[in-house]
Amino acid sequence: MSLVIAMDGPSGSGKSSASKGVARALGLRYLDTGAMYRAVTWWMLDQGVPVDDPAAVAARAADPVIVSGTDPDAPSITVDGRDVSAPIRTREVTNAVSAVSAVPEVRARLVALQREAIAGGGIVVEGRDIGTVVAPDAPVKVYLTASEEARAQRRARDLAADPSATVTLTQSEQARRDRLDSTRKASPLAKAADATEIDSTELSLAEVIEAVVRLAKEQT
Ligand code: DC
Repeated sequence: MSLVIAMDGPSGSGKSSASKGVARALGLRYLDTGAMYRAVTWWMLDQGVPVDDPAAVAARAADPVIVSGTDPDAPSITVDGRDVSAPIRTREVTNAVSAVSAVPEVRARLVALQREAIAGGGIVVEGRDIGTVVAPDAPVKVYLTASEEARAQRRARDLAADPSATVTLTQSEQARRDRLDSTRKASPLAKAADATEIDSTELSLAEVIEAVVRLAKEQT
């Protein structure tokens, strides 16, 4: 398998910026699996599917056609041919995504798509279960963390910088999402036993990228 870098961690740990930066530095593709769960969630809401009803979500899990672009300079995501990169960042989607991503039928569908994208290798994949479930054989696995305070600050900064993130989440909404993502039954957020943990609390983005690039060079 050519190079696959699995980047897992909670929201606000700096995964997205670091993953894109590593992909650029090493000339790799980039897959944002969180955007895929968000896209399915957007579609369920758009179709009027009650997202808190796992059976209703499971019944429609096979229907949306999700296509992810893997250029780190221009990541893209479409559902049924429609560009949803902006609407998947709204508060409505963000608050519903944990319920939808906890449904095993949704995960099975998206994990299959993710494995197809990963099969060619040469890719940085960010998510919650990449090192544990999606790509357990990835030669490089990183678990990125940061203190609760640093994560809250980053999220606030990201939202301010991202014009598509129309509404900020409250602290309690964010805490609820983190709790649901790490306690759900189906492949919860977890550090793989062989992942290298990087705490980004005291590191700049450039330092995190450098650390992952170094790891990739050592481990491959
Ligand atoms: O990374 P993000 O915040 O955009 O992810 C959105 C949600 O998708 C997150 O709350 C949990 C879910 N997710 C998941 O269950 N598994 C992944 N590999 C990636 C994201």
